[in-house]
Amino acid sequence: MVISKKVRERRNPPKRIPPGPKPWPIVGNLHQLSSLPHKSLHLLAQKYGEIMQLKYGSRTVVVASSPKMAEEFLKTHDNVFASRPPLASGKYTGYNYQDITWAPYGPHWRKGRKIYLTEIFTLKRLDSFESIRVEERLNFLSGIYAESGNPIVLRNHIRRYTLSSISRMVLSDKYFSDHKTDTSLVSISEFHEMIDEWMVLNGVLNIGDWIPWLRNFDLQGYVKRMKAVSDKFDAFYNYVIADHMAKKHLPGKNFVPKEMVDVLLQLSEDDIDPEVKLTLEAVKALVHDLMLGGTDTSGITIEWTIHEILRHPRVLATLREELDKVIGRERWVQENDFPQMPYLEAIIKETLRLHLPSPMLAPHFALEDCNVAGYDISKETIIFINSWSIGRHPDHWDDPYEFKPERFLQGSEINMTGQDFTLLPFGSGRRGCPGYTLALRLVRTTVGNMFHGFNWIFPEGMRSEDICMVERFGLTTCPEVPISIIPEPRLPIHLYK
Ligand code: HEM
Repeated sequence: MVISKKVRERRNPPKRIPPGPKPWPIVGNLHQLSSLPHKSLHLLAQKYGEIMQLKYGSRTVVVASSPKMAEEFLKTHDNVFASRPPLASGKYTGYNYQDITWAPYGPHWRKGRKIYLTEIFTLKRLDSFESIRVEERLNFLSGIYAESGNPIVLRNHIRRYTLSSISRMVLSDKYFSDHKTDTSLVSISEFHEMIDEWMVLNGVLNIGDWIPWLRNFDLQGYVKRMKAVSDKFDAFYNYVIADHMAKKHLPGKNFVPKEMVDVLLQLSEDDIDPEVKLTLEAVKALVHDLMLGGTDTSGITIEWTIHEILRHPRVLATLREELDKVIGRERWVQENDFPQMPYLEAIIKETLRLHLPSPMLAPHFALEDCNVAGYDISKETIIFINSWSIGRHPDHWDDPYEFKPERFLQGSEINMTGQDFTLLPFGSGRRGCPGYTLALRLVRTTVGNMFHGFNWIFPEGMRSEDICMVERFGLTTCPEVPISIIPEPRLPIHLYK
């Protein structure tokens, strides 16, 4: 018997699984997660290490918390972990996994991703939309100027501006307004509510995903809410697409695609691919990705950057020196000024090191069994890359909890777009963010101009220490309390009009 056991073991050696906390029956380790799961997982990683295995209900989850482990999953074995798990949010809020964010790895995802990279996010296309970004930015800065001397809630202005910038590039500017009109189906505030609801529902722990026999009961009511918010988005996109189609087929006019949705509709009409057809449903899913992927993430990054600058007068003074030297006082910061503004760039990197809109990358999913760093990871394991933890890793960052943009100056080669695994705000590899060029153009010019164009005065009784740095969790993580602050113009008045 002893011999046959030894032979069995040699043929099927026991699996070496990553260390981790002991799961409880039924719930697994779910009870160990707080409302900010990235922080709970960060604390667990201090005990169990840079790669650990947990159970979320009956599902196996592996968490990577160091640059080395992120590289294992996103580069060394990228082909194995390039899928997404089939969670309810992808089914009910991602057009049944047809949007690119939630699509499983395969021909449909590959096709959508190729369209983004070769048709939507090319430098030529992004340059062609620069005039829209300039116009929207000036509207935003003029709106703030109109409130000079009064406290304003910055978040409201930033959100409105990022939504109008992205939606004008994707859809045109006629579908939103303060109130519903003939052409605007929803008001801006309603659309923001829809985005908020979508973000919350894409960030929640939906019990039915983890304990499948409870799925049909929808105990938390999340699936019902997912269906309701998706219906609202779908009605909106149906309207927008019908409107663009009508414009496209106007008799006697030569159609030239103007917005991103036009490009997608043209591709859909010309598509002769027998394997994966770009249907109208798929076009809606791609539009949905662009609208949802771009607005909140960029706005939250701008907000965190402003909070950090205002808390650090020394950083603000150095940024102002750079602005006055490179831009002067007679014009606004433009996109082509970026290469001359290394300190602004360092501030944005430092903000994204500490305050990621997505503190953990969207979940990855093992397509097959794989050995990672000596551990056996089974097919269908869900992988979380904790980039919040990675940005604070003491082996890679001195004073990891301090806000020090200077760390990115003086010969630092650290890149934030996926080549360097110590800083992963946009992920890396096959599933890395396709929209990062657009996002960085928006964030850099907005932050630069907000400090170039205005002094920011705290309302009476408020000090820089009162600025909220507490995180509120959803799919994206923003400051719990938005800042209210008084703008004071610092450039010649004609520039604000
Ligand atoms: C500061 C702004 C942004 C941040 C921090 C950000 C971050 C991310 C992250 C972390 C991922 C997941 C990467 C992974 O799973 O490995 C992602 C994916 C994605 N992002 Fe962004 N993003 C931003 C802006 C944008 C913009 C402007 C767009 C489009 C308009 C966009 C569209 C997408 C899409 C479609 C995906 C899914 C890619 C896939 O699964 O293949 N993002 N983004």
